[in-house]
Amino acid sequence: MKKFRGVFLKNEKEISSMRIANGMVSQILDAIAEVIKPGVSTMFLEHLAQKMCHEMNVRPSFQGYCGYPFALCCAVNETIVHGFPSEEAILQEGDIISCDMGVCYNGFHGDHARTFAVGEISEEAKKLCRVTDEALHLGIAAARVGNDLYDISAAVQRHAENNGYHVIQRFVGHGIGTSLHEKPEVPNFVPHGSISLPLQVGMVLAIEPMLAIGTHEVKILSDKWTANTLDGSLAAHFEHSIVIQQSGPEILSLSSNYSGTC
Ligand code: MF3
Ligand code: CO
Repeated sequence: MKKFRGVFLKNEKEISSMRIANGMVSQILDAIAEVIKPGVSTMFLEHLAQKMCHEMNVRPSFQGYCGYPFALCCAVNETIVHGFPSEEAILQEGDIISCDMGVCYNGFHGDHARTFAVGEISEEAKKLCRVTDEALHLGIAAARVGNDLYDISAAVQRHAENNGYHVIQRFVGHGIGTSLHEKPEVPNFVPHGSISLPLQVGMVLAIEPMLAIGTHEVKILSDKWTANTLDGSLAAHFEHSIVIQQSGPEILSLSSNYSGTC
């Protein structure tokens, strides 16, 4: 595969596999959205994701990755990312839950996350979800030839901070392809002393802002995965895998029922 400064550039054939992988993830999240309601356990969502992977004949990308035990990450309320599905975690009216999922199709990964409302949620929670989704789409809009990698980061950070939210810095987006995580890292803030990377046609990036209401500080629970906000404030997470085409960014994680924004 061709590379530019250590970053793989995908050709149209490879991109079509990635479109299929990400489309499958989007379909799985569509199905999860349908069943999310008060009283449902997050393990029920995991079982649905596993069943759909089986039917689609694809492997869940996260299960076994660095020892992660499940197909799905379920992050409820103050959990930012990497929450374990559990029979004991029963969704309540007013919760928000980020569901993050990956599959591997024909050797290529898809990676996509959305934050869902459980029943009626507070205005505060609605705004956090809306702004996080908007920040993702502003980041995507900056993912074009002529721009630098950190134009994506700056667009996300600006929108988050203009709305008084905190960007989680501990977790970043990433290149994606035959590995779930490839170069480059895609931070949701502009790092100090960062080296520029001019964006190129064929780069495939998973852009994934995580925003919190109260703090950027993170606490990892004793399971060594679950990442919560240190102050217990709400966090939201949206992620798309995109490819940089000559004509601009193309979102890969779409389905016939989902046009890319919540
Ligand atoms: N979208 C997340 C990421 O890219 C989810 C990964 S979960 C893991 O980091 F288990 F695979 F690490
Ligand atoms: Co990701």
